[in-house]
Amino acid sequence: MKGKFYITTPIYYPSDKLHIGHSYTTVVCDAVARYKRMQGFDVFYLTGTDEHGQKIESKAKEAGVSPKEYVDHIVESIKELWELMGISYDRFIRTTDDYHVASVQKIFKALYDKGEIYKGHYQGHYCKPCESFWTDSQLADGNCPDCGRPVEQAKEEAYFFRLSNYTDRILQLYRDHPDFLQPQSRVNEMVNNFLKPGLEDLCVSRTSFSWGVPVTFDPGHVVYVWVDALSNYITALGYGNDRFHDFDKYWPADVHMMAKEIIRFHSIIWPALLMALDLPLPKKVYGHGWLLFDGDKMSKSKGNVVDPIVLCKRYGVDALRYFLLREVPFGQDGSFTNEALISRINSDLANDLGNLVSRSVAMAEKYFPKGLPADRLLQPVDDSLISMATALRPFVEEQCDNLQIPTAIGEIFKFISRTNKYIDETAPWVLAKNEADRPRLATVLYNLLESIRIAAVLLTPFMPHTSPKIFAQIGAGEDATTWESAGTFGLLSPTAKVEKGEALFPRIDVEKELAELETLSAKPSKVEAPVPAKKEDKKPEGVASLIDIGDFAKVELRVAKVAACEPVEKSDKLLKLQLEDGTGTRQVVSGIRQWYTPEDLIGKKLVLVANLKPAKLRGVESQGMILAADHGDTARVIFVDSDLPTGSKIR
Ligand code: ME8
Ligand code: MG
Repeated sequence: MKGKFYITTPIYYPSDKLHIGHSYTTVVCDAVARYKRMQGFDVFYLTGTDEHGQKIESKAKEAGVSPKEYVDHIVESIKELWELMGISYDRFIRTTDDYHVASVQKIFKALYDKGEIYKGHYQGHYCKPCESFWTDSQLADGNCPDCGRPVEQAKEEAYFFRLSNYTDRILQLYRDHPDFLQPQSRVNEMVNNFLKPGLEDLCVSRTSFSWGVPVTFDPGHVVYVWVDALSNYITALGYGNDRFHDFDKYWPADVHMMAKEIIRFHSIIWPALLMALDLPLPKKVYGHGWLLFDGDKMSKSKGNVVDPIVLCKRYGVDALRYFLLREVPFGQDGSFTNEALISRINSDLANDLGNLVSRSVAMAEKYFPKGLPADRLLQPVDDSLISMATALRPFVEEQCDNLQIPTAIGEIFKFISRTNKYIDETAPWVLAKNEADRPRLATVLYNLLESIRIAAVLLTPFMPHTSPKIFAQIGAGEDATTWESAGTFGLLSPTAKVEKGEALFPRIDVEKELAELETLSAKPSKVEAPVPAKKEDKKPEGVASLIDIGDFAKVELRVAKVAACEPVEKSDKLLKLQLEDGTGTRQVVSGIRQWYTPEDLIGKKLVLVANLKPAKLRGVESQGMILAADHGDTARVIFVDSDLPTGSKIR
């Protein structure tokens, strides 16, 4: 063993369906964890869910279930998603786990006993979605500086953590350990926005809701969600509990990975809490950028096209992992578009990697059906291929050690292109014509298979389902698939027997695929039910899940009249409708062009979902959606009686 390596993702809120932005962090951590394991490190990869807080309490209440019932099935679906995406975590912590709750209570009490926490009054602003308190000076135009949403006034008895005592120590930490917080831009942000002005004491308990870890010595108070949440990184190892005994072995963490919006909690509050507890500090906090969708941070309202389950099913897990790991320079924001995803799949995976494997294996099989002979005839052209192959592993390691995975993968694909070029340079089909060229032909094919092997070994952490398929096709035995083995050219058995398999990444027809995705996202989506059915509620046949009247009441349905209608330019799926809804006119885009002409619709009355968040389809603003029914492969708009006044509420 080379030593231990402890890496964490944030623990996710189970309040929303996870989108590919969330899976970005888990996939990155998974890649790093797999890389370290292959290198021989004793890796511990932690992820989990952050289940307490006012937001979840209110959502559960709206849904008419207990908070625990509300989160339970969401947590199950999160675990299923990680399984689907090949996330090799070693432990999954839920902040509702008994051992965690008990440990947080001990931590809180210990801080209180040490005088690090005191009782006072909280007065200020609270951002409910972010579960963050803000002072006047921190607000941005009166709104939450993190998310820009409005804040609420709050005044209540509360406990405070003496964070103000830690300003200098945190500054010192950044100076002594320039690697602690990365990338460097995040350091400047923390220093300028929070440390230079001086830290303020942090409110660490609440009394206005009860879904949290109770403060043992003051009933009515629950521990502030961020203290609860951050503690997961140590309680999951057994700190403060007897459930696990891994703390001495794995703490401090080697990397806490997350996106930039929660860096303040991890690079200021978390080290201060650890200092107060006299515990060692994590070695690195890395704040990567956001994956943006149409220029926005993703949210549930963006629908199907960013649903990782949908994307995995359409393109395969490894294609999505590849895109996430390769597309965006690590640390920066990047855009997710379906076009970019499909183009990566086609150019890098189908063309470069897929073709290299299928051409090489096909030639080896055709020219040497019984396996390659052992004779070799090397030529100078082989040298540049071989030297590039052997330089690859150290380069990839250096990049991965710095968490620069896109650069590591980029280099592997440069090598794949180089290997494709080697085929053109050596023209095996010409060699195959001449019996005297057999040793040279065998050498060329061996070099190809060996280059493929090295690339596939180094790709294993990133595409864990694909590399084994490649090994099977080129006949690489176990000792030729270890990380170590990628450093040496010539480890594939000299008489390797290949076996053609199916195409690794079938080419995608871009036009057709984009059109299908458009219908997917424009299709009237069903009302989603976040609530598990209680055991006694029996679902009628054919119903996906039960909702209660409160869920249904959230959807505002109104009678609307089509005042005008025209096709959306450059789309054969979309129509743009101007709808009178009783209060004014609004524009709605609907994916029904294949089945309706504007004339079919103008003057008709239909059902409008009036409170759907606005969205853009093909760049055209849509404020709501209209109801339609599926009929075979078509959709039929639900028209309503022309007597019904425009604007009538439907319930
Ligand atoms: O903040 N691009 O949980 P959360 C990239 N429970 N990464 C994204 C992303 C995007 N568009 N959207 C989300 C919380 N993420 C707290 C954390 S930790 C002690 C408590 C990823 O469910 C990214 O890692 O809002 C981000 O930091 C995390 O999801 C936040 O997940
Ligand atoms: Mg968040």
